[in-house]
Amino acid sequence: MPEPREGQSVARLELKMAARDVNLWYGEKQALFGVSLDMFDSSVTALIGPSGCGKSTFLRCLDRMNDVIDGCRVEGDIRLDGEDIYAPRVDPVQLRARVGMVFQKPNPFPKSIFENVAYGPRIHGLCKTKAEYADVVEKSLTRAGLWDEVKDRLDESGTGLSGGQQQRLCIARAISVNPEVLLMDEPCSALDPIATAKIETLMDELKKNLCIVIVTHSMQQAARVSQRTAFFHLGKLVEVDETSKIFTNPTDQRTQDYVTGRFG
Ligand SMILES: Nc1ncnc2c1ncn2[C@@H]1O[C@H](COP(=O)(O)OP(=O)(O)O)[C@@H](O)[C@H]1O
Ligand SMILES: [Mg+2]
Repeated sequence: MPEPREGQSVARLELKMAARDVNLWYGEKQALFGVSLDMFDSSVTALIGPSGCGKSTFLRCLDRMNDVIDGCRVEGDIRLDGEDIYAPRVDPVQLRARVGMVFQKPNPFPKSIFENVAYGPRIHGLCKTKAEYADVVEKSLTRAGLWDEVKDRLDESGTGLSGGQQQRLCIARAISVNPEVLLMDEPCSALDPIATAKIETLMDELKKNLCIVIVTHSMQQAARVSQRTAFFHLGKLVEVDETSKIFTNPTDQRTQDYVTGRFG
């Protein structure tokens, strides 16, 4: 398939994940109301909306991270390549190898840079020899734009890197198992503008082989990195469309109010 271009209609992108009528409760409290969203391959989908509107909650549904939250109940249908990810036969650990997650605060393991990246391939038994691990580590760090900065100190602790480097290490760790989807929850909000710019450039490159879903509180970031934007408000998905449309000519008044800074 040819590389999709900026602004290209989604009709030519391949559907990767589809959420239909997702409702979610934390105990008695409902946090998501009938959310339906398509997410495409080779493309970045941005989730925006005021704090507390359910962006992180929805993102966590996509790799079943809510499973481990006590009292959390999910209803609805979420598919990856047409397969129900909540089906009883699906192992959440295997699912998370296909759907990786990067969090707001960089969270490298207290291990060497090398072992941070080799971790996933090791638990999934993806490599046989030391040379194969070394190869995966180099490729992942290269894709994460970090190799040149760390190649001479792979044995040093991942926690000793700068914040921006730590976040790229976490991205390398997430992509080392060759996921098909990468979820990013405000991945730049703890970073300075230069580190943020590096991650944004990286996303553009990574999306060539991935479906990326990013939560961001920065509308500028959503406009820069995404092709599609979904606006959430009070647990509902109000509107989803091409990013340029959401920011210049949204259909819903609530979206209009948010993107023009009237609330949020
Ligand atoms: N683990 C949890 N337990 C109970 N309520 C939660 C939990 N996580 C989030 N919530 C509630 O769900 C709603 C949506 O939160 P969240 O998804 O974190 O919003 P956002 O990421 O858009 O800021 C909020 O009202 C929040 O307080
Ligand atoms: Mg959040």
